[in-house]
Amino acid sequence: MIKLHDLYFKPFISEQEVDDIVQKMVDEIAADLGDVVPVFVGILNGSFMFTSDFVKKYPKPCEVTFIKLASYEGLKSTEDIQRLIGITQDLTGRTVVILEDIIDSGKTLAEVYRIFKNEKVKELKIATLFFKPEAYKKDFKLHYVGREIPNKFIVGYGLDYDGLGREYPEVFQLKTTQHMTNIVLFGPPGAGKGTQANFLKEKYNLVHISTGDVFRFNIKNETALGMLAKSYMDKGDLVPDKVTIDMLNAEVEKNADANGFIFDGFPRTNAQAESLDNLMNSKDSQINAMIALEVDDEILVQRLLERGKTSGRPDDADEGIIRNRIKEYYDKTAILKDYYSAQGKYYGVDGVGSIEEITQRLSGVIDTL
Ligand code: IMP
Ligand code: MG
Repeated sequence: MIKLHDLYFKPFISEQEVDDIVQKMVDEIAADLGDVVPVFVGILNGSFMFTSDFVKKYPKPCEVTFIKLASYEGLKSTEDIQRLIGITQDLTGRTVVILEDIIDSGKTLAEVYRIFKNEKVKELKIATLFFKPEAYKKDFKLHYVGREIPNKFIVGYGLDYDGLGREYPEVFQLKTTQHMTNIVLFGPPGAGKGTQANFLKEKYNLVHISTGDVFRFNIKNETALGMLAKSYMDKGDLVPDKVTIDMLNAEVEKNADANGFIFDGFPRTNAQAESLDNLMNSKDSQINAMIALEVDDEILVQRLLERGKTSGRPDDADEGIIRNRIKEYYDKTAILKDYYSAQGKYYGVDGVGSIEEITQRLSGVIDTL
């Protein structure tokens, strides 16, 4: 992954693949042109690297020149295309092949046609290394296309984002979600997970996704997924992971500009942990850490009994029930501790101390991610 200005980009087309694409274009064009000596016209700035590699590979005599146009500002194509350097030589009677790095809306190409309208060239052919068919709004013929790509912003191999990124020999694609810190938060009952999640979400601008809350919200609001989940629950069946993941996906999408997420109550099994990894992957993101608050059993029992005196929760009043809940927690999380440890993502944090002390310890972990 690379960062340019404020944005993150992920690897998209390797140096070797780019090289193969260029070679394929050279072969095709050389075969078509035969013994004609063409003039290759690179469109600056973006196509300097492509043009250079292209003519180095070109097997026969050729001429190279450049025109310089500018149309992009940041991530957007602008209406107004500036002609910074036009044609500087006589191209009468010549076979001209335009070498473009990328064709997006086609506005630059329209300008190229305007430039050549009054030139008495023999033939004008368009060759573009990359082409975004979904963005293309013109109907000029593209004679040679190296690779069609989705309508996402790319950098590298001559292409830039506000001036940066041109020097890379490979191509990167803008990440769908920007850099996020995603945490799976664990803690036995009474560890203070809810309290800490509240502090962390404020401090790091994270969105707290408690699976229990998500379920209750969807069922209460009778969303399609909520109704589906309810149909299983009414029969006394477990809600399939797919339904839960779909609900989480909706939460993640609703908050696509968050700095990250605190997952609470999910995953509980290996399969769920894998599904969550897949979900985050599909957003060009990842789970960065499983953080478990560690509190000695005896302290938990005391805390919960204390809470039971005022909370009125019946499961906080009975020591037998409390011990069972704690045991169940350890039985369940052991698997996940292994899962995340294997990826080097497990962090145990001492959950005994004042609220501030514990927040400090959690921050200590998050700041290193
Ligand atoms: P068009 O005029 O919209 O076809 O855009 C063509 C020009 O916009 C290219 O020559 C590039 O300079 C720039 N451009 C289009 N798409 C991208 C991209 O994904 N990354 C970087 N520059 C781009
Ligand atoms: Mg260009």
